[in-house]
Amino acid sequence: MANQSTNIYAVQAREILDSRGNPTIETTVVLESGYYGIASIPSGASVGKYEAVELRDNDPKRYRGMGVLKAVNNVNSIFGPKIRGKDALKQEEIDATLIALDGTPNKSNLGANSILSVSIASAIASANASRMMVYRYLNQIFSAICPTVIKRIPVPIFNIINGGKHGAGNLNFQEFQIIPASGKQYHDALMMGVDIYHALGKLLEYRGAVHSVGDEGGYAPNLFTNVEALELLLEASRTLGYRFGTDVFFGLDVASSYFKTDKGYLIKDRAIPYSPSEFIEYFHVLNTKYRLLLLEDAFSEDDWASWQALTQELGKDSLIIGDDLLVTNPQKLQKAISEKACSAILLKPNQIGTLSEFFQVVKLARENRFQTVVSHRSGETVDSFEADLAVAIQSDYVKFGAPARGERVAKYNRLLQIEAEISINK
Ligand code: PGA
Ligand code: ZN
Repeated sequence: MANQSTNIYAVQAREILDSRGNPTIETTVVLESGYYGIASIPSGASVGKYEAVELRDNDPKRYRGMGVLKAVNNVNSIFGPKIRGKDALKQEEIDATLIALDGTPNKSNLGANSILSVSIASAIASANASRMMVYRYLNQIFSAICPTVIKRIPVPIFNIINGGKHGAGNLNFQEFQIIPASGKQYHDALMMGVDIYHALGKLLEYRGAVHSVGDEGGYAPNLFTNVEALELLLEASRTLGYRFGTDVFFGLDVASSYFKTDKGYLIKDRAIPYSPSEFIEYFHVLNTKYRLLLLEDAFSEDDWASWQALTQELGKDSLIIGDDLLVTNPQKLQKAISEKACSAILLKPNQIGTLSEFFQVVKLARENRFQTVVSHRSGETVDSFEADLAVAIQSDYVKFGAPARGERVAKYNRLLQIEAEISINK
C-alpha cells in the first residue's frame, strides 16, 4: 500500500521575486506520503509600525539590501530539522514549534516571512494529503475554534486608483476603491469592477492625465486633489449607468501615517494641515458627497483618540477599518474592541506570522461583531492562497487590488474557481 503518512519529510525554502521585483521567500513542505505544499510570502510598502518583522538581509551587495537569504536559511537549517517527522495535520503544534524557535513576540529573531511560509506550506500539504480543496481544509481547521459554514464568496474591494506609497507620488491617499453591492454574485461583481476599471482608464486618457499603473494595478494619475480622484470614480461609474450608492460604493485606504506631520494631516487638497477634528469633518463631507462605505486607516496608528472620535461620528454610515492600527494582532484588536476605536479589521497573514494566530484573531473579531477584510500586500506573488483563506473564514470582504496584473488577477480568478465549486455542491 502507498505511504499515507502526513508526517513532514522535507522542508525547503528559496529566494524568488515579488511583483515589485524584490526578493521574497518561497517554501515547499513535502510529506512522507509524497504530497506537498508550496507557499510564497507577500511584502508591504506601507508597513505598520507594529507588524511582525519581515527579515531582510540588509546586504547592500545583493538586491539593494532586500535579499532574504537569512530567512531562507532559517527555514532550511532551523525550522526544517525541528519539524521533520511531525504530523502536518497538527497545524497548531507546527505553528507553536515555529513560534517557540523564534522566541520573540514580534518574530524579529527568525522572521515572520520565514515562519509564515512554513506555516502555510504545511497547511497546503495537509490539504493535498487529505484530498481536500485548500479552502475546505482551512475551513475545517478554523471551524474547530469558530464554527463557520461556507456559503458565499466575500465581496471584492477593487483598488482602482493608487496613490500614497503605491502611486507615482502624486496623490496622498493610498487607495481609491470601488465596492460592488453585496447582493451581487461574485462573477457579476468582478465584471462590474473590470468595467469600471476600464471606463476609468478611458476617462484618464481623454483628460490627458497620465495613466500608468501603481503597485496594486490601479491607475496612478496626475491629479490636483484627492477629491478629484473620487470625482473620477463617480464619473466612470456613471458612464456605465451604475447607480452609485446602490449598485456600487466607494471606499478609501487613507494610509494617513504617511502624511501626518507635527502640525496635523497634510494633504494636497489644502495648504495647511488638518487637525484631527477638521479631518473628521472633511471625511464627513466626503461621505455625504461620495457615500464612503469603507474608510481604512483614516488616522495614524498611534492616534487612538481620533479613531474613537471618527468611529463615533461616522461609524453608523461607514465601516471604520483598522490596518496599521491593528496589524492583525490580538492585543491591538482587543484594545480597539474595548475602546470602540473602529468597526472592522484588515487581515494580513504576514502581519502576524502563523496561520494559527491568524485564526485566533479572526475568532476574536467574529465574536465581537467586527467585520473582516482579508487583504493582499502591495508586493505580491501569483500565489492565490489568500483567496482560499478568505473563503475558509467567510470573510465579509477581500481586498486584492485592481482587477488587473497577474498577481492580483490570480486571486480574483481563484475566487471564480471556488464560486463555481461551491455552486455545484450547493
Ligand atoms: P501594503 O498596502 O501592502 O503596502 O501595506 C496595503 C494596505 O495598506 O492595505
Ligand atoms: Zn491599508
